[in-house]
Amino acid sequence: MIQIHDNFFEIYIEENEVQDAVQQVAQQINLNYFSKDVLLVCVLNGSFMFTADLMKNLTVRSEVTFVKYKSYEGTESTGEVKEIMGIQVPIKDKEIIIVEDIVDTGQTLSHIYKVLQKHQPKSIKTATLLYKPKAYKGTLPIDYVGKEIPNDFVVGYGLDYDEQGRHLPAIYKLKD
Ligand code: IMP
Ligand code: MG
Repeated sequence: MIQIHDNFFEIYIEENEVQDAVQQVAQQINLNYFSKDVLLVCVLNGSFMFTADLMKNLTVRSEVTFVKYKSYEGTESTGEVKEIMGIQVPIKDKEIIIVEDIVDTGQTLSHIYKVLQKHQPKSIKTATLLYKPKAYKGTLPIDYVGKEIPNDFVVGYGLDYDEQGRHLPAIYKLKD
C-alpha cells in the first residue's frame, strides 16, 4: 500500500500487465495502419508514459505531437474541459490517433475530438490505456482500449492524484 497526499492506494494493475495492454494496443495499430503514416496526439499530462511506450512498440511510421487539457481536480471530474495547449502542428489530411491515459466520462475525449475535427484530418481514431465503461457518457467509439476498469480512482503510469503518483510504473487504486 502507498500513501499519496491524504489517501491510501493499493496495487491494481502490475507493471507487466500494463505493458501487455500497451503491446496489445500497439499490435492493433500496427495491423490497421500497415503502409500508412500515423500521427499520435498525446493528451498531456496523463498520457506521456503510455504514448512513449506505445510508440516504442509501433512498427508503422509514426510521429507524435502534444496537446494539453485539464478536467480533473483531486479525485473528481470538474465537468468542464479547459484547453491549456491546443494542437501545434498542421493535421489536415493526416491520419491521427488521439492518445489518452484514461477515458472516464468521455468529456475530455469528445471535446478534443471536436476541436481536431475542425482541422480536417484524413481520419481520427481514439486510443486509451484505461477505460471506465460504467462512467462513459459519450457516443464516440473508442477504437483502441488497453484495459477496461470499474469506476475506481486510479494513479500511476502517468495518471495522477493532484499531480502526484505519475512516476509509478504500475497502476494503483484508491483504497475503500
Ligand atoms: P473524462 O473527461 O471524464 O473522460 O476524464 C478524462 C481525464 O480525467 C483523463 O485524461 C485523466 O486526466 C482524468 N482522470 C479520469 N479518471 C481518472 C482516474 O481514475 N485517475 C486519474 N485521473 C483520472
Ligand atoms: Mg489528470
